[in-house]
Amino acid sequence: MTANHSNSRIERLLKRYGKETSPARWDFFTGYRPLVRYRMNRQMEKILDLIKKGSQGKSGLAMLDVGCGTGRYLDRFLSLGKIARKVTGVDISETMLEEARKNTNGQAILIQADAENLPFEDNTFDVVTGSYLFENLNGPEDNPKKVFQEMYRVTKEGGQIIFTVETWYLVPNLISYVLSFFRRKTPLNFYDVKKIKELTEGAKPWSRKIYGLSLSTVFFPCARAPQFGVKLIEKIDNKLEKIIPRFGAQLIVEIKK
Ligand SMILES: C[S@@+](CC[C@H](N)C(=O)[O-])C[C@H]1O[C@@H](n2cnc3c(N)ncnc32)[C@H](O)[C@@H]1O
Repeated sequence: MTANHSNSRIERLLKRYGKETSPARWDFFTGYRPLVRYRMNRQMEKILDLIKKGSQGKSGLAMLDVGCGTGRYLDRFLSLGKIARKVTGVDISETMLEEARKNTNGQAILIQADAENLPFEDNTFDVVTGSYLFENLNGPEDNPKKVFQEMYRVTKEGGQIIFTVETWYLVPNLISYVLSFFRRKTPLNFYDVKKIKELTEGAKPWSRKIYGLSLSTVFFPCARAPQFGVKLIEKIDNKLEKIIPRFGAQLIVEIKK
């Protein structure tokens, strides 16, 4: 990639995420609809669960969240107590990091950097995460494979890499994909199992686990549903997750290095 190519990519990213309003927009999106909130929480709990299981009772983990945004994950990592020794967040946008600084009471290390060039030595972190990152690497110059390779590189041998992707095969995601052409927007970078395998090529294939997160976006049109509607969806999700484990509006990928 030439320097100009890379610069125009960074400029585009900063235009998208570097606005004063970007953190508030993201927090609003994640918090205002009960169904979206439910889905975000479900994702977060699943990831924390995988980290707790992966740590096998070890404490003092060095953790990195790539594309940390307003620090939702960093805050929860810090609340893991002695499991987490050092919590670090990287984001391209200083305005996002500013908000993350507030949300973590200055307890996380926050670094402005490009996920395609992480400023860390090889084998630095026990756990590396990325949430709502890969589907947003959807520009013509973005290189999600490079991002994964960087996440892998900075993970210690035996460490965990955990990230989320949106899938294209549920109706609302499919509709959003089609609509983006009418709106002249670049569609999100949707994934399926085959594409995850391509993205994570080079990682130990036996270590790759894929978990379906939730079918709840099937009900997206009723996203303003009252809380009891969400409770019902949660019950359905709990059942479906066991019956069709690698299927969902979103998948969580866990890889051991
Ligand atoms: C949709 S937000 C998700 C934020 C956070 N992970 C969460 O789940 O709340 C995507 C974040 O990734 C960051 N981002 C996008 N491309 C990036 C890149 N190449 N390098 C670093 N950060 C990037 C954006 O600035 C933004 O904060």
